[in-house]
Amino acid sequence: MINIIAAVAENGVIGSDGKIPWDIPEDKAYFKKITSGSVVIMGRRTFEEIGFPLPNRYNIVVSGKKSFCGKNLHTASSLENALESARAYAQKNGTDEIFLCGGEKIYSQGLKYANRIYITEINGQYKGDTFFPKFRKDEFCLSERTYMCDGKLCFCVYERCF
Ligand SMILES: NC(=O)c1ccc[n+]([C@@H]2O[C@H](COP(=O)([O-])OP(=O)(O)OC[C@H]3O[C@@H](n4cnc5c(N)ncnc54)[C@H](OP(=O)(O)O)[C@@H]3O)[C@@H](O)[C@H]2O)c1
Repeated sequence: MINIIAAVAENGVIGSDGKIPWDIPEDKAYFKKITSGSVVIMGRRTFEEIGFPLPNRYNIVVSGKKSFCGKNLHTASSLENALESARAYAQKNGTDEIFLCGGEKIYSQGLKYANRIYITEINGQYKGDTFFPKFRKDEFCLSERTYMCDGKLCFCVYERCF
């Protein structure tokens, strides 16, 4: 199962100057809960921003220029190579879950492969330079919607329906 997971402001912003422009513990906890024990794929810029492989997950960084390796850390030269490595790892380790964790370049290329999209809607407009790509609402159906923090956040899950 290929999942996308992202936190997105009302105006579509996901990042600003290499960083996520908000710091919301409830969303970090949600991300950790949903992705723990699975494979996470991220672009090189996102990985370098985090600075270390996410614990309790197999991390694949997509880069055409750099190479990262270590315990639970692997580099792939394209998203397709990353997905191939992720599937092999997942099969060997008894997990079915692969998560595309950003940033914009990975989300844009990954939408066509996604079975499910986890979006945390962040209340408010943010200044930024990276955005979540538009996806077709006739291809993905909203299956869950959970408001948090007095409506400041909403955890949404979309399933591919077409
Ligand atoms: N709100 C959220 O949920 C969320 C989540 C994650 C990230 N973000 C934000 O998103 C922003 C980063 O997004 P971004 O689009 O600039 O960067 P990104 O997707 O994180 O990384 C882009 C890099 O990934 C590599 N890459 C991507 N596709 C590739 C391909 N097909 N083949 C080879 N390499 C490929 C390239 O690395 P090389 O240049 O090394 O070749 C490219 O420069 C940051 O501000 C971050 O904080 C937000």
